[in-house]
Amino acid sequence: MTADAIPEFPFDRPTALEPPPQLAELRERCPVSHVRLPSGDVATLVTRYDDARAVMADPRFSRNLAREGAARLATTKDGGLFGRRREGAMEIGEGQGHMRWRRLLSRWFTARKMEVWRPRVQAMTDDLLDAMLAKGSPGNLSAGLALPLPVRVICALVGAPSEDQDKFAHWSRVMLTLTRFTQEEVDQAYREFNAYVSDLVDRNRADPGDDLLSELTQITDTEDGRLSQGELIATVRGLLLAGHETTSNMIAIMTAMLLADRSRFEDVIDDPDLIPGTVEEVLRLDSTLSVIGGVPRFLTEEVELSEVRVPAGTTLIPNIPAANRDPGKFPDPDRFDPRRENNAQHLTFGAGKHYCLGQPLARVELQVVLGTLTRRLPELRLRDSADDLKLRVGGMSGGLQDVWVTW
Ligand code: HEM
Repeated sequence: MTADAIPEFPFDRPTALEPPPQLAELRERCPVSHVRLPSGDVATLVTRYDDARAVMADPRFSRNLAREGAARLATTKDGGLFGRRREGAMEIGEGQGHMRWRRLLSRWFTARKMEVWRPRVQAMTDDLLDAMLAKGSPGNLSAGLALPLPVRVICALVGAPSEDQDKFAHWSRVMLTLTRFTQEEVDQAYREFNAYVSDLVDRNRADPGDDLLSELTQITDTEDGRLSQGELIATVRGLLLAGHETTSNMIAIMTAMLLADRSRFEDVIDDPDLIPGTVEEVLRLDSTLSVIGGVPRFLTEEVELSEVRVPAGTTLIPNIPAANRDPGKFPDPDRFDPRRENNAQHLTFGAGKHYCLGQPLARVELQVVLGTLTRRLPELRLRDSADDLKLRVGGMSGGLQDVWVTW
């Protein structure tokens, strides 16, 4: 680490889709670097692939930032999502409780089970696209498709009635605040959400459907036991928060990234077998999804990363966009290549014991959307120049402001 003035983080970027040049500089010169967060607190940014992977996968590093000495990310009193103490969340977030919770849920989130969702995701995508097309070109792809699709999918997944989608979308936005909402607004969203889900759990327990929540409420006598009401609420909240904005943003980012250089989109029209590889390359090259670039960790012991000793008590941010462009892992890293052999090894879904549980579902959603857009709208274009795309500000998850398209 250098003794220079501590840089303000997040860094500025040339355009919405391009990563801040400072990330590549740090990865090269100072891969373990102090940065100052919007709250004023200092954290340590990690920018190389191996280090970022090690930080995410190391079970000694805690995701719980509600600790003495941990850096606050957001401007609200509780320091934002990762700092908040939440009923049920502690038991499923760390240690033995997390392992038991993950075992229960991962039975549901297998790639094979998620394939069963592909036709349902396809039908939802076609419905939303029909409605968008009916309004005529140009259309707002974010409002018409990217935002509503993942929340529909999650509502169906947990067995919430589809007419409650807007409520889910609202709670998720408020709970993910970085600077946009006040503490009172955030607290109220938590209260409303908890009451809603508690009621949903009771209804699904009494009258189970074929959704995840119904199944979880029916577990009685397995070795892992059943989840408490608090844990079930925390599970639904976790799925909503982890799976909604991320996937919404990624759908819009994918569309923008492919249309910004239309040859990428045309290659998929010519050869639909490129869909999975194109989705992986979008995930690898994205730098807009998260404002800080990864989920922070609190260090309970000293560690060494790239020959730098990092003391216990440090808040570390593994920066995924920087790691995903590490030339040591991905040769010629800034080149978009859907045929790249190892592109699915990007860290966009994390690594290790917290590796994204919903990644098979997110991949299905992105593949279905790309397949549908290239098949149904081969003339799709960005309405404005790619340089005019703007980042969303004030939220923990970044992403693009409305992406307008023509067809
Ligand atoms: C493009 C979309 C998505 C991205 C980029 C993404 C990214 C991530 C990342 C980076 C992590 C690891 C966090 C950490 O290490 O602390 C994670 C965890 C998680 N994700 Fe996703 N995710 C996406 C979609 C989804 C979806 C659709 C769901 C569920 C429906 C989901 C559910 C989860 C859950 C439950 C965890 C926590 C797993 C654990 O702690 O064991 N994600 N995700």
